[in-house]
Amino acid sequence: PQRHLIDGFGRRVSYLRISVTDRCDFRCVYCMAEDMTFLPKKDVLSFEEVEAIAGAFIARGTTKIRLTGGEPLVRRDIMRLVESLGRRIGNGLDELTITTNGSQLGKYAEGLHAAGVRRINVSLDTLDAGRFAEITRRGRLDQVLSGIAAAQAAGLAIKINMVAMRGVNDDEIEPMMDWAHAQGMGLTLIEGMPLGEVGMDRVDSYLPLRELHEKLSRRYSFTPLDKRTGGPARYVHVAETGGTLGFITPMSHNFCESCNRVRLTATGQLFLCLGQDDQVNLRDAWRDGGAEGLDAALDHAMRIKPKGHDFILDRTHTTPAVARHMSVTGG
Ligand code: GTP
Ligand code: 5AD
Ligand code: SF4
Repeated sequence: PQRHLIDGFGRRVSYLRISVTDRCDFRCVYCMAEDMTFLPKKDVLSFEEVEAIAGAFIARGTTKIRLTGGEPLVRRDIMRLVESLGRRIGNGLDELTITTNGSQLGKYAEGLHAAGVRRINVSLDTLDAGRFAEITRRGRLDQVLSGIAAAQAAGLAIKINMVAMRGVNDDEIEPMMDWAHAQGMGLTLIEGMPLGEVGMDRVDSYLPLRELHEKLSRRYSFTPLDKRTGGPARYVHVAETGGTLGFITPMSHNFCESCNRVRLTATGQLFLCLGQDDQVNLRDAWRDGGAEGLDAALDHAMRIKPKGHDFILDRTHTTPAVARHMSVTGG
């Protein structure tokens, strides 16, 4: 208990998100620029280093690990890492999960389940093939849909993440909900956040989910669910569809006071908040100081974890709040 990671605001950190690569086979317009420069491969942590860092977190009470990217499943040999982290489940770790764009699920769904993964989040913003191609710039909808089907067949529970954008996919929110819920999947809507220079106008496309929630609740019967495990989403049960709908509202609502997470980048920087630059270099801590070095670095991280983000999105703030792209820290 005394060894638990508690920050300066009394929040306990028990959830580690690990970005295993900043690369992705898609180039979603709200996430990346058309032309991206990725990290040199030599700077990327080896799996042994990721395991050492994950082990240090688990020893300090981290119970949940999520692999993200970029697209985590495009990292070479990724199943080797999934399998080794999977062996920690029940042995300090309660849950290993992944957030993916779904393009490689056909190949990996069964292996993920075999390694102990039980729930995955799949990013999908539209069910229209042409629109999907426009949003992702290089993705194919049918590939993602068959990946989702493979994941369901493998026994993985799925939550769909949809970035809601005015004038882009706001006409699809109800169809997406009907589709996801009919197949027993949850749907979570996310407000676009100002991270990195990208290919779209974030002010024009910003869709305040608070208003949408209100609009939808006139048409559907929502029962608020108390399922707030420190995550940013607020969930409702929808009587008409029998499914769960989540809202992640970083722009219009602040959930930072119950933050339980930190983020490791592919090069070993530990980011302490999605919307701030505060970071600790765990790769050097491990290389120079081994397990003790890591432990001390985690203590330092807890002292500097900021209170929260303060995203501002309007015409007078034309540069993104945070210069790095979402693909660096994995959402
Ligand atoms: P579960 O609750 O386990 O499903 O995980 P999650 O919702 O934390 O994971 P997911 O990868 O689905 O996260 C969805 C999105 O929520 C992320 O990609 C981010 O866009 C957003 N998000 C998650 N955590 C934070 C956070 O700490 N701050 C902010 N501003 N946004 C977050
Ligand atoms: N704002 C909000 N969500 C984003 N995502 C990627 N970039 C952004 C952004 N700028 C989403 C992806 C995925 C999750 C990891 O983050 O669609 O669901
Ligand atoms: Fe890739 Fe996800 Fe970013 Fe799209 S949102 S470019 S799938 S990392």
